[in-house]
Amino acid sequence: MIQSRLPTGLLAVDPRKPEKYSMQKACAILLAGGLVAFPTETVYGLGANALDERAVARIFAAKGRPADNPLIVHFAAAARLNPFFKRLPPMAWLLAERFWPGPLTLVLKNDYGFSAAVTGGLGTVAVRVPAHPVALALLGALGVPVAAPSANVSGRPSPTTAAHVLDDLEGRIDLVLDGGPAWLGVESTVLDLTGERPVLLRPGGVTLQQLEAVVGPVSLDPAVNDPAWAESENEGESESKQPRSPGMKYTHYAPKARVLLFDGADSAGVAAKILAEAAALTGAGQRVGILACRDHESSYREQGYDVIAAGWREDPAPLAASLYEALRCFDRIPVDVILAEGVPARGLGLAVMNRLFKAAGGNVVKV
Ligand code: TXA
Ligand code: MG
Repeated sequence: MIQSRLPTGLLAVDPRKPEKYSMQKACAILLAGGLVAFPTETVYGLGANALDERAVARIFAAKGRPADNPLIVHFAAAARLNPFFKRLPPMAWLLAERFWPGPLTLVLKNDYGFSAAVTGGLGTVAVRVPAHPVALALLGALGVPVAAPSANVSGRPSPTTAAHVLDDLEGRIDLVLDGGPAWLGVESTVLDLTGERPVLLRPGGVTLQQLEAVVGPVSLDPAVNDPAWAESENEGESESKQPRSPGMKYTHYAPKARVLLFDGADSAGVAAKILAEAAALTGAGQRVGILACRDHESSYREQGYDVIAAGWREDPAPLAASLYEALRCFDRIPVDVILAEGVPARGLGLAVMNRLFKAAGGNVVKV
């Protein structure tokens, strides 16, 4: 897509107490139909006034995002949803009370009509109240909801810092509010409440177990655990195999290097397999990067590989927080192949594994 270049502004803001001046400046841009990237607790979002179709269209142009992939509409508080929905399902209120502001997105019937530019023409709309002071200050000052996908070029890892946003979108958006790193590092959990039983469309910051404690059994969309969804854009696939969350069908979160994911319950076995593969690839002249938990970090380092390690198999939160930065970092070195350790797919580990599956485009070695 050919677009004229914009001078992209960068404003540092205090992540705990965002300056009023900066919020006013960002609001003025949004109300004039511009695009502002801002930090949330999950990743940076690329915001436009959700009620301004032309502004929303500019998000798709800036990101190179397919038009059928709908956006999340962000609100300053749950009560702000009232004018836009006839009646919210009781579960929505229960979940909002427990998890908002926070990393949970609810898919609801689009009663009052957010435009097809926002919803991809689906008849449903995704909404969330983010838990970052900068996002909340901006939304509160603006007074209208903000449509915001992650602020990356489509198909690139989501941005967790303002620098990531500029790497991808400088010259294509009006302003970046720099509030430091997003602390969770993986996107919000997307939960569809439009059917009989809630369906988890994308695992994220709120875990399946936390959701089930509030609303009872939750079904998993097949796209959640199936790396095959990431391999193609599903051309020619039958209608019944279409994932319910359109975003899940596109190869996502992918660095430029090839990613191989090693998955298995025996963590020593996984480490041994990674070392063997790394040796073979290095022998074949490939530069190898290893993305791992800290459990086996030293055995990789001893062999002289480029290693990025964070978190532990049983505590993957620090790995989630640095996952996208790590993928971008390997591209800067650059390495040819990233060998990634899997973690148990429970709790936050489900979101980490989902992102790693997608980054690997289905290249999974079962150990
Ligand atoms: O943490 C997050 O959710 C971040 C921050 C900025 O809020 N946003 C984010 O947006 O990750 P995005 O656009 O990168 O991912 C939104 C996901 C996509 O997979 C999209 O297909 C899905 O939500 N989605 C949006 N509207 C939907 C709808 N009406 N029905 C089903 N899925 C929907
Ligand atoms: Mg995204």
